[in-house]
Parts: sequence; C-alpha cells; structure tokens
Amino acid sequence: MEIKAPKGVFDIYPDAKEKWQDSANWQFIESLLRKYALKFNFREIRTPIFEHLELFLKGVGEGSDIVTKEMYNFLDKAGRALALRPEGTAAVIRAYMENKIYADQKSSKLFYIEPMFRYERQQSGRYRQHHQFGAEAIGSFSPYQDAEIIDMAFNLYQQLGIKNLKLLINCVGSLESRKAYIDALRAFLEPKFEHLSEDSKVRFHKNMLRILDSKDANDQKLLEGCPNILEFLDESKKKHFETVLSALTDIGIPYTIEPKLVRGLDYYDSTVFEILTSHDGQASLTIGGGGRYDGLIDSYSGQSIPAVGFGTGIERIIQTLIMQDQLPNTQLGIDAYIIPMSFVEQKAAFHLAHKLRERGCDVDIELASRKLKQALPHASQIGSRFAIIIGDNELKSGLFVLKNLMTREEQTLDIHQVIKNIQDSKKQP
Ligand code: HAM
Repeated sequence: MEIKAPKGVFDIYPDAKEKWQDSANWQFIESLLRKYALKFNFREIRTPIFEHLELFLKGVGEGSDIVTKEMYNFLDKAGRALALRPEGTAAVIRAYMENKIYADQKSSKLFYIEPMFRYERQQSGRYRQHHQFGAEAIGSFSPYQDAEIIDMAFNLYQQLGIKNLKLLINCVGSLESRKAYIDALRAFLEPKFEHLSEDSKVRFHKNMLRILDSKDANDQKLLEGCPNILEFLDESKKKHFETVLSALTDIGIPYTIEPKLVRGLDYYDSTVFEILTSHDGQASLTIGGGGRYDGLIDSYSGQSIPAVGFGTGIERIIQTLIMQDQLPNTQLGIDAYIIPMSFVEQKAAFHLAHKLRERGCDVDIELASRKLKQALPHASQIGSRFAIIIGDNELKSGLFVLKNLMTREEQTLDIHQVIKNIQDSKKQP
C-alpha cells in the first residue's frame, strides 16, 4: 500500500519492529500508570482530542512556541476555530470548571493518559502525536501539594527503574514579581539585542522569559550574569518555595535549583520543575515537567482556584527504559491454543474455546489452516502455555490431546479435565 502515516506520527502494534512501539509495552506501562495514580488518589479524566482554539491561546499563551509554531488548529465546517489538544492541563481545567467537578469536593486530583498534538520540527524523540501521563491537583495552595506532585513524578521514574535522574526546580514568582523581573531582564539584554539569535529577538518582544531557555549557545553566553528571578520573589512566594524545597529534602529527593528554568507554557506562576535522565554520556533528556499555575482558572473563569500538576511523555518513558535496559519482559501470552486438524474439527474447537473463555482462560483457535507442524511452533511463538489438538480420533473418543508447550508433556483428557488442568496451571505462580 502506498499511503503512509503522516510525518512525525507512529503506530503501536503487536511485536513491533521497534521495541518501543510494541503494544505489549504500552499496555504494561499504561496499566502501571493507572495503578500508580491511585496510590496518590488521582482519578481519571478524559477530555476531547480537540477544543476551541481560544482555550490554548489563553492558557498556554499566545507568545509560547506551542501556540505560535506547533498548534494544529483549523476551522471546522461551520467556521469554528478549533485546535488539536497540544497539552492536557488547559483541557482538564476547562472540563473541571464546565462540569463543576469541584462541586462535590471529591475529585480534585485528576490524571490522564492521552495523546497530544504538536507540529514539532522533525527530530528524534519529538513526535507530532505524543502521549502523556499527567496529573493535576486542583484546589490547594499548600507547598506540600507541589512537593507531592514532584514526589509523584520522581518516584514514578525511580520505581520504573529509570537511572541518572536529575530534578531541576525553580520558582517563577507571581505576576507582579515576574513583571519586575522581565523589566530587569529587558534592561540587561537590550544592549545585546543585535547579537541574540533570531528566535530570541522575537521572544524579546513577545515572550522575554523564554529567552532564558534558548538552546542557542551564543544566547546562553549573552545571558551570563543576567538577573536572577529568585531575587525578585515576594515574601510569600519565597516562603512557599523554601517549604517545597525542604519537603523534598525531608523525603530524600535531590534537586538542583535552576533559576533559568521557566518552561514553555505561560500559565505557571510559582514552582516549576523538570526531571531529566541521561544514558552513557548522551545528552540529557527531559522526561517530565510541571509546576504550579494558580492564575489559570482565574484567567478562564474569574474564580481563584489554585492548582499544580505535571506531565510526562510515555514514549520517553518506554524509550528510556529500553535504552537503560530496565524494561521487563512484557510479552503477553495466552493459556491455550486449540488446533483443529481440519475443517471438520473446527466446530469442536470453537465450542471448547468458548467453554474455556467462560471459565476465565485466554484462548485462541488455529483457523488459518496451518498444519500441525506449523501450528505448534506458532502456538509457542505467540506465547501460549498449552496446545490442545483435536483430530478425527479425538472427535470420536471425546478426548483431547493437551500439550504443555513449556515442558512438552502430553496428556489425553476429556473436556472437563482439560479445563481443570488449564485452570489449575493458572493458579501456579
Ligand atoms: P510539557 O513539558 O510541554 O508540559 O510536556 C510534558 C512532557 O511531555 C515532556 O517532558 C515530554 O516528556 C513529553 N513531550 C512533550 N512534547 C513532546 C513531543 N513532541 N514528543 C514526545 N514527547 C513530548 C506539559 O505539557 C504540561 N501540560 C505539564 C503540566 C501538567 N504542567 C502542569 N500540569
């Protein structure tokens, strides 16, 4: 077939050529993430893949790269301006307010596992559809809520076995202190404006803070000695940040304060953080990040509700686990593969499969007319523990050949014994 997937997207399928695209690995990680979220009392939310464009213009920020360069926006048939969701936070907050999820006071901690869409420049590890596990804790001003979110992210990676973790943390302050900082940064960079990269020149006018995390080496040189955002914090933010840091120290999470860390989304207004990992001298990879965004709900609805959260790329988790040789064997198997010797025995095979599934077994039937010689290796290849062979003799006698594909042991049994044997073997560790 000539039609291929668009640039920057990928398929997830069984036994994929690239191990990280293997659906067994995705199922394994996703089910682990769901259980993990519950550990912190986060409950699942699913929002639509597209939203009104305005939601992201307002929330993520009109000057951010995500909005200016990376958004998949379009007009629908009725001329409405819509956008494919580039990130989860704005959408979760929209849903939280619209559905008045806050009303029952029960579900203020929400998690999601969802695809996100960003028109990224083609480069390794950056996709135009990626998937995020994200968690948003809504309603608390407490610095311990920031610390819990960071603990949740950091421990997730630790429990998965990801090595060489590095937590970078900063506080970008309130709207007012940030304004004062931006003025100071502007005054510092103005005389150097001509030497800034083209991207940073644009940011100088549109989104000054983002110059701080320019990837351009010369920009970074020009930033040497620039004003430090932490020196502009008001007392309450300073205290908040100190409490977050001491809570992290208390539970043994090491961190590095990085005053230039501002993140690419405009809604943050206090703690921000990123977690990086590295492997064998390769460049560090940001695997997740987040922060506090107390002003976001206010900007949408005029209500002052604080929130803090984080998001992590599932592609990056799986790729890192593979690179660091930490991904367990996630190959899925079944309990039994039933092999009818010809079309005549397919009816009995079909019947037996139904009975086995009724009793909680995972079963498949050989209906592709493979001969026994090919069907048995196929059963092993797909990870079946047993093969059940039904031929002419078996039909007549009502007895089946049950072959244990691990031990190669064979038994001839009636249907009840076959079912019992398979069920019993499932109970063994
Ligand atoms: P973000 O840093 O833009 O934050 O994305 C979170 C994570 O998603 C990144 O650390 C990375 O692992 C992954 N990611 C982002 N873009 C791509 C891409 N193009 N390809 C592959 N992986 C990618 C957010 O989106 C915020 N909503 C996080 C948050 C939640 N802050 C507060 N609550």
